[in-house]
Amino acid sequence: MNKERDYYKATRLAVAAVNSPSPLKDRLAAIVRSVARSMKSGASLILLDSTRSKLIHSSSRGLPQFYLRKGVLDADKSLYEVLTGQPVTIADAGNDSRIQYPAMAAKAGIASILGVPIMCGGGAVGSIRVYTRERCDFSSQDIAFVITMANLAAVALNSDPFRQKTEEVDTLESSIPVEASALRRSRSVTFAHPSEEYFARILDFYNIEWVYEPRSFPLRWNGDTVTEMFTPDFYLPGLDLYIELTTLRQSLVTHKNRKLRRLKELHPEVKITLLYKNDYDRLLAKYGCGPLAQTRAHGISRVLYSATEIEDRVRALAGQISSDYASRRPLMVGVQRGFICFMADLIRQITIPVDIDFMAISYYSGDSDSTVRITKDIDLSVVGRHVIMVEDIVDTGITLSYILNHLQAGGPASLAVCTLLDRRARRLADVRLDYVGFEVPDEFVVGYGLDYREEYRNLPFIGIPTLEKSSKKEISPQKD
Ligand code: IMP
Ligand code: MG
Repeated sequence: MNKERDYYKATRLAVAAVNSPSPLKDRLAAIVRSVARSMKSGASLILLDSTRSKLIHSSSRGLPQFYLRKGVLDADKSLYEVLTGQPVTIADAGNDSRIQYPAMAAKAGIASILGVPIMCGGGAVGSIRVYTRERCDFSSQDIAFVITMANLAAVALNSDPFRQKTEEVDTLESSIPVEASALRRSRSVTFAHPSEEYFARILDFYNIEWVYEPRSFPLRWNGDTVTEMFTPDFYLPGLDLYIELTTLRQSLVTHKNRKLRRLKELHPEVKITLLYKNDYDRLLAKYGCGPLAQTRAHGISRVLYSATEIEDRVRALAGQISSDYASRRPLMVGVQRGFICFMADLIRQITIPVDIDFMAISYYSGDSDSTVRITKDIDLSVVGRHVIMVEDIVDTGITLSYILNHLQAGGPASLAVCTLLDRRARRLADVRLDYVGFEVPDEFVVGYGLDYREEYRNLPFIGIPTLEKSSKKEISPQKD
């Protein structure tokens, strides 16, 4: 009887939370809280990423940090049946093949687990899990209660305004299951710091899979006790890359660098990139946001490559392409609008016949909820063609890898990349560049087609614009 009353109360609270105007992640957290309290257990809400191969902890209650950050959960290893639509009960969590990290479960004092699917539009998009300290044979009443909560979570996810928006657009990205792409993950995860949420939104825009803080790496021990840990902020499964953002001032980064070195010693196989405050601010500024963003640049502070230097380099690249493609007729594809000067000069120095075409893609604009889209596709067919992508600058490589995937799907005979500028410092997506004009330092550049907020494209040289740092105070220090 008591239990019935608890479940009724929990349902009432969760329904009220779901019906509130709070952000999605808070509404999901309220559901998890209600489950944990009424069942006197730990609970978590886990969502599938859009490739449906990884699970993302969206919200949790009453579980130790080391358990939540035990590593990336593979959808096919961790309670797989739940995602086929069935509730699953595991009486002995320390000893069950359906648990991906049984030793961790034992260490966290988890005796039994109940998993219930969250069903949206006929398919599972995630699950709610209940973790008890005492061994528990979940009753049909317990299971029915968690199913109700999972249905509520589905209602919350369905009522997310973004979901309605994605369903309206008939996107080019139709390969991504609607129910999964509708889960804007940056909206359903609770972040420790706003910079992380911002970064997640950029990743979401480019449809790059990410998992927030999936794993803590123990770095030092005292006997059996871990005395130092490192939890990178993001893991990008598609790139097999961990990313640590640091908004600390450069001078305070030494400690973190030491941790990173230690991590590399212990796990040389782990790929990790540290984005410093400067890198991060510059990355944001590129999209017109963050402390370095200015409404306009105030002139040019330094010329990096003069018109003559550019001319010489472009001629050399054209010579190389002409000889490499001597017996073929390449199709050169430029991406609007930065390629304009480079491509115009390049093709005039190429001595073999070529075809040219253009495409345009939407650009992350800071607050947008949209995803990257090709706004103008090429007109010529790439089937069996030798395609050369012509880029102005490759920075993170995110745009380029998106476009390359798109072109590759069209079935070209070969696909190469020719970029005027290559800025390695902030590379995230590891793309192969076949022809590179200049390797540029980690500075924002304009001119010769490149812009700052549409300005300076018509300069005949490439230079560094004067972007005054705004006087905003340092963002508060951050945990790992
Ligand atoms: P990525 O996707 O981060 O590699 O960004 C590539 C695109 O961002 C380029 O094609 C440019 O349009 C733009 N971009 C990146 N860095 C600069 C820069 O320093 N000046 C102007 N545009 C830039
Ligand atoms: Mg571009």
